[in-house]
Amino acid sequence: MLHIALYPGSFDPITNGHLDILERASNLFDKVYVTVAVNKQKNSVFTGDEREALIRECIEGKEWADNVEINQFTGLLVNHAKKLNANTLIRGVRQISDFEYEFRMALTNKRLQPDVDTIFLMPDEEFTFISASLVKEIAYWDGDLSSFVPPIVEKALKEKFSSKP
Ligand code: PNS
Repeated sequence: MLHIALYPGSFDPITNGHLDILERASNLFDKVYVTVAVNKQKNSVFTGDEREALIRECIEGKEWADNVEINQFTGLLVNHAKKLNANTLIRGVRQISDFEYEFRMALTNKRLQPDVDTIFLMPDEEFTFISASLVKEIAYWDGDLSSFVPPIVEKALKEKFSSKP
């Protein structure tokens, strides 16, 4: 039996912390789907296609990513997981403050789909404070993003914010 996991998120944009979690998941599972959540009610900086393309570029050529596939979804996460035969959801937990929200989400998903479990992974210590929202704020003010995101993401962010109001 193949052990298939789904790593969902907004990934607006993908950060070094997300990539650390993704690599860990790829080493633990036979197959990992990275799934970009497209939610029209959320004001994302990047479109679903742009976020997917950035992830693809970040993992291109990485040996550990051979078992990683990227896609997008709208709707309920557990339905998407079932469609892909994924029985495990991966979420990264950086600090205790993440846990309350993650715990509620995991329990909700379990109620909706009891045979889908959530596994929490910790990133390397150096990534425990990185978040996509902080990264966007730094990009907005033209700060140095080199230790937060891969160069391709930094370039995309700088382009997005080059014509800021
Ligand atoms: O990167 P994020 O924004 O923390 O990811 C949150 C995400 C997209 C995983 C979560 O909002 C989600 O699963 N949305 C889909 C709707 C859904 O299934 N909601 C019920 C679970 S709480």
